[in-house]
Amino acid sequence: MSPQTGNDPMVHVVDHPLVQHKLTLMRKKDASTNSFRTLLNELAMLMAYEVTRDMPMQEVEIETPLETMKARVIDGKKLVLVSILRAGTGILDGMLTVVPGARVGHIGLYRDPKTLQAVEYYFKMPKDMQERDVVVVDPMLATGNSAVAAIERVKVLKPKSIKFVCLLTCPEGIATLRKAHPDVPIYTAAIDRQLNDHGYILPGLGDAGDRIFGTQ
Ligand code: URA
Repeated sequence: MSPQTGNDPMVHVVDHPLVQHKLTLMRKKDASTNSFRTLLNELAMLMAYEVTRDMPMQEVEIETPLETMKARVIDGKKLVLVSILRAGTGILDGMLTVVPGARVGHIGLYRDPKTLQAVEYYFKMPKDMQERDVVVVDPMLATGNSAVAAIERVKVLKPKSIKFVCLLTCPEGIATLRKAHPDVPIYTAAIDRQLNDHGYILPGLGDAGDRIFGTQ
């Protein structure tokens, strides 16, 4: 189940008990790098389940041990998962477990610590983006600047659709992304209270990249 928040049908909070339980374990400051990464991987699979809910399907003919039938399959190759480096990698791996045929794009963005603006250092996408549905992934939608910049770049390639998936966000991040890209639905496991002056989500889970890669 993925109820929409308040009045905004474009913001989906995935409030499934498994998602909420795993997110709580990830938030704890004493979660090890290993368990943080494992939980993120599991959460990403559950988020993939929600975000691919309306993926187009086609019928193919198959043989069961008893007879021939028409059965439905998805065309995973039409899906592109776009990871915002570096923390997006954590979500990407889990999603690829569930949709192994998906193509992958990468956008390298870092946050200027003074301005909190996104600065691009890498961009690589699959071919034929006009034929593909894109899911942009980043665990934290905080200021929203990286998500806005990444989606702007992807839009130039005119994909069929774009969705954004994160684990955690806050009212400020949602407002920024919704304003810049009102056509892009947001999938998140939780909407936290607020952003602090350093661009961190409160209560949040800390620096997702550091916690995934053990770089603190
Ligand atoms: N990025 C993070 O990793 N954590 C936050 O709280 C905000 C942005």
